[in-house]
Amino acid sequence: MKILLTGGTGYIGSHTAVELLAENHEVVIVDNLRNSKRSVVERIEEVSGKQISFYEAHLEDTETVSRICADEQVEAAIHFAGLKSVGESVADPLLYYQLNLTTSISLCQALFENDINMLVFSSSATVYGNPERIPLDEKCRATEAANPYGRTKIIIERILRDLQQANPAMNIALLRYFNPAGAHPSARLGEDPTGVPNNLVPFLTQVAIGMREQLVINGDDYETADGTCIRDYIHVQDLAKGHVASLEKLKTNPGLVTYNLGTGRGHSVSEVVQAFERATNQPLNKRIGPRRPGDVPSTYTDPALAENELNWRAELTIEDICRDAWRWQEENPEGYP
Ligand code: UD1
Repeated sequence: MKILLTGGTGYIGSHTAVELLAENHEVVIVDNLRNSKRSVVERIEEVSGKQISFYEAHLEDTETVSRICADEQVEAAIHFAGLKSVGESVADPLLYYQLNLTTSISLCQALFENDINMLVFSSSATVYGNPERIPLDEKCRATEAANPYGRTKIIIERILRDLQQANPAMNIALLRYFNPAGAHPSARLGEDPTGVPNNLVPFLTQVAIGMREQLVINGDDYETADGTCIRDYIHVQDLAKGHVASLEKLKTNPGLVTYNLGTGRGHSVSEVVQAFERATNQPLNKRIGPRRPGDVPSTYTDPALAENELNWRAELTIEDICRDAWRWQEENPEGYP
C-alpha cells in the first residue's frame, strides 16, 4: 500500500517508515520540520535502501495535503504529527489545543476528500491518567489525562470515534503507546529531542555522553519494590512494527479499533538506570530528587488484545533499548545533521 505518514520525520514516524518499507509498502511523508530535520529523509532511505516521497507542508493546509493525497494516490494514513511536550502544554495550552486538534481535523478532511478510509492514530497511554487498574487494558477508563497534551489525545480519539460512526466505511486504529525508547540498531535513526529531554532514556544518554551533569531520579518513596516509578518501556522498533500490523488489521474492515502498544512488563527507574549502566559499562552520575508532579507510581499494559488481534508482540528488552539508545547517542552526539 501507499501510506501517508504525517510527522514522518519524527522519532516514531521515521522508524515506522523503515518498517513499512521493509514490508514493501510505499511511504509519503508530510512534515513541517518544526521539531525534526530534513536529513531524517536521507537516513530513512539509507537504512531501508528505498526511496520515499517527502513534502514539507503544514497539515492545517487541507488543500495542499488533499492534493498530495490525490497526486500520490495515497491509500492509508498514519497520523504521528503533533506537539508532545507535557511541560510546554501546561505553559501554553492554547497552542496544544489549536495545533494538535486543527491538524488532525484538517488531515481527516483531506482523507475524506480523497476517499481514503484507513487511518492509524498515534495516541498515548497518557489517556488513562491515573490508572484505574494495572495492568491497563483497553477497557480501562481513558478520559482523564493529567495535562493539556494528554487531553488533546483524548479529544482527538473522541473526534475519530465520531467520524467513524458517521462514516462506517472508515477504518481507524487508535494506538495507545506506552513509553517508546531506544533507537534503530543501525544507529542511523534515533530520538533527537530539542532542548532538555523530558523523557528518561534520552536524558540518561545525554548524561552519559557528558551533555548534562546529572540524572535526577524523580522520587524513591513510591509504593513500588525499590521506591521508584514503574513504566512499560517499548523499543521504538517494536512499536514501529505495531503500526505495520495495525494497517494489516484495518484491511479487514474492523471499523474503529483501539490497542495498547507496550511490552506488558514494567521496569522501575532504578532498573532502567542499572540496565543503562550495564550497556555503557560505566556508572552514571545520579541522585535522588523529589517526586515530579503528575507522575503515577506504576503503569504497564496488558498486551493481550494487541497480541491476539494484531498477531504482534514486543520482542525487544530493556537491555536492547539501552544498548541501541546509547549507540545512537555515541554515534550522533549532536543528533541529526
Ligand atoms: C511521559 C509523559 C507522557 C508521554 C510519555 C511518553 C509526563 C508527565 N508524561 O510519560 O505524557 O506520553 O512520556 O513520551 O511527562 N524520570 C526521572 N528523571 C528524569 C526523567 C524521568 O526520574 O530526568 C522518571 C519519571 O519521573 C518517570 C519515569 O522516569 O517516573 C519515566 O518518565 P518519562 O520518560 O518522562 O515518561 P512518563 O512520565 O511515563
